Amino acid sequence: MCGIVGAINSGSCVDFLIQGLKTLEYRGYDSAGLAVLNGGLHRSRAMGRVAGLEDKVAEKGIAGSVGIAHTRWATHGAPAEHNAHPHVSEGLAVVHNGIIENYESLRVQLEALGYTFTSDTDTETIAHLIQACLAGGNAFADQPAQDLFAAVRRAVDYLEGAYALAVVHESEPDCLVVVREGSPLMLGIGENGHYAASDASALVAMTRRMVYLENGDVGRLTRDSIELVDGQGNAVERDVTLSSLSADAVELGEYRHFMQKEIAEQPQALGNTLEMIAGANRLHPGIFGADAETVLAEVDSVLILACGTSSYAGMTAKYWIEQLSGLPCNVELASEYRYRTSVPNSKQLVVVISQSGETADTLAALQHAKSLGHTRTLAICNVPESAIVRETALRFITRAGPEIGVASTKAFTTQLSALFLLTLLLAKANGMLSADTENGSIEADREQDLLAELRHLPVAVERVLALEPQIAEWAQEFAHKHHALFLGRGRHYPIAQEGALKLKEISYIHAEAYPAGELKHGPLALVDAEMPVVVVAPNDELLEKLKANMQEVSARGGQLYVFADGDSRMNSSDGVKVLHMPEHYGLLSPVLHVVALQLLAYHVALAKGTDVDKPRNLAKSVTVE
Ligand code: F6R
Repeated sequence: MCGIVGAINSGSCVDFLIQGLKTLEYRGYDSAGLAVLNGGLHRSRAMGRVAGLEDKVAEKGIAGSVGIAHTRWATHGAPAEHNAHPHVSEGLAVVHNGIIENYESLRVQLEALGYTFTSDTDTETIAHLIQACLAGGNAFADQPAQDLFAAVRRAVDYLEGAYALAVVHESEPDCLVVVREGSPLMLGIGENGHYAASDASALVAMTRRMVYLENGDVGRLTRDSIELVDGQGNAVERDVTLSSLSADAVELGEYRHFMQKEIAEQPQALGNTLEMIAGANRLHPGIFGADAETVLAEVDSVLILACGTSSYAGMTAKYWIEQLSGLPCNVELASEYRYRTSVPNSKQLVVVISQSGETADTLAALQHAKSLGHTRTLAICNVPESAIVRETALRFITRAGPEIGVASTKAFTTQLSALFLLTLLLAKANGMLSADTENGSIEADREQDLLAELRHLPVAVERVLALEPQIAEWAQEFAHKHHALFLGRGRHYPIAQEGALKLKEISYIHAEAYPAGELKHGPLALVDAEMPVVVVAPNDELLEKLKANMQEVSARGGQLYVFADGDSRMNSSDGVKVLHMPEHYGLLSPVLHVVALQLLAYHVALAKGTDVDKPRNLAKSVTVE
C-alpha cells in the first residue's frame, strides 16, 4: 500500500531509487514519482508503472545524490499525475505512505495561510504543513523552525492517522528526514550513505544492515550520520539488524511471474516453516514463544482475527481446533471485529494472522482486543520485524520468504501449517493428545503421526504441483466465462472461498464460494451451461453428501470441475471433469487442495492475459483502513 524509498549517498542515488521502486511496486502501481536535490529540487512523476517513470527520468537526465521516491496505491484523489507523489511546497518535497485522517481541516487552515493546493491528496497537506512550520509566524509555529528536522518534528504533532514520510528540502541539500507513525519504514546503512524504504526488500541490493524504526520516530539522515528522536522528542538509538533476506529472494529468476514462483516455492516454504519439528516426535510450546506453555495452559477458547486470505487460513483452522482440541474457536474479519461490541474473555487466546504483519485492520483489531483486556495474544506472521509481531505476547514466524505477487499463495499454506501446529499444542494443553482415550482424547501416538504427516507436506505439495499441465488445460475453458461457483464442505469450504478469491482477484472472473449444502437454498438458481462449478471433493466423511450436491448441479446443466482424491472412485463423465489429487491427506488435505486452486486461478489469468502479479485496483500490504 504505497512504497517509499529515500537515499542520501555519495554517488547518484537515482538508480537505487528506481530499482527500489520496482521492488516495492507490489505495494501500489497507480503512479510513481521521485524528487532529487541537485542545485535545486528536480521532480518527475508518471502515471502507471515505475518503468514509465524510469523513461521520463532518463529523458530529463535527472541525477543527484539525495532523493525520495514513491509508488502509489490511490486513496485520496484518483490515480492521476497531479496526485502522484512526491508532493511539493516551494523547495520542499515529501513522499507518504498511509492516511492523514484530519487532512481536510488542515487543508482549510493552510489555504487560509495562502498555500495553494494542486492535488486532491491528503499528502500535499503534509508538504505545506512542514513548510508552514519552517516559516513560523502562524498557528502551527510561532517561530520559524531551526531546520527541516525541527520543522518535521513540529508538523507531526498536527497529523492524525498512520503515516511513513520521507522529506527533502532544497535549502538543506545534505539531509533527508524520515518519520514512522503506524506505517512501516526502515533505514539501511550502506558503505557510502544511508537509505530508507517501506520494506527491507528495497534495501537488500544496497545493504543488509538495517534499522527498524519505532512508531513516533523521526530521523535525520546525512551521508555519515543518523540522528533519531522518539515520539516524546528524546534522542534514541535503535538496534542495527543484519537482514537475512537475499537479493535473489526478491527476483523473478527463471519464472514469468512472482505468483508462479511463489506457488512453486511452496514445498520449500513449508519445509522451512516446519524445520523446527524436523525429527521431533513431540511438540514443544516454546516454538510459539518463551511464555507459550503458561499462556496456552489456561486458554479456554480461541478467537482468530485476520483479513482476506489470512482469514480463510483462520477459518480452516477453526475446524482443526474444535475437532482436535475441543476448544471453541471463532474467526472474525478484523475490519468487523474492531468496530463491534464484543464480549471479552481474559482466558481466550486471540490469534492474529497476517502475511505482511502491517495490515491496518488486523493491527487495529489486535489493539482493540488488547484494550478490552485480552492479554493472551499470538501473531502468525511472515515478517518478523512487522508491527503486528511486536504487539503480541506470543508469535510464530512462517518462513515463506518474501511474497511479492499481490495474490497470496505460499504465505497461506505456511499459515495453515503454523495453525496446525497451534492446534496440536492446544489439543495437548487441553488434554486431548494424551493417552487418556476413555475421556475421548486422542491417543499419544496420534501426535507422532500428525507430526509425521506435517513433515511430509512438502513432498505431497510437490506432487500436486505436478498436476499443473492438466489444471492448465481446464483453465482454458474458464477464460471465456464471466462467473464461477466454488463448492466445498467442512474444512474445505474455506478452501473453496480461497480458490474463488484467487480466481476473482487475478482473472477478474466473478467467483463465489458456497458450502455445498447451501446450494439448493439459493445459488442453484445461477447454475446453467455457462456456469463452471469447481468442487473441492476430498475423500472425507462428507464426500457422499457432496456427491449429492454435485448431482444437483449436473441436473441443471452445470459443468463440474472436481478436485477429488485418488481413492475416491470418481470418474469424468458428461458434464463432470475429475482430477485426482496424488494422495488422500486427511486433516491436512486443505493444504493440498488449495495449491490446485492456486494453479487454476494462475492459468486462467494467463489465458486471459491479465496482470497476474499486479491485478487492477489492488496492492499488497494493506496499511490503510
Ligand atoms: C489475497 C490477499 C489478501 C490478503 C489480505 C491480508 O490474495 O493476499 O486478501 O490476504 O489483504 O493481508 P495480510 O495477510 O498481509 O494481513
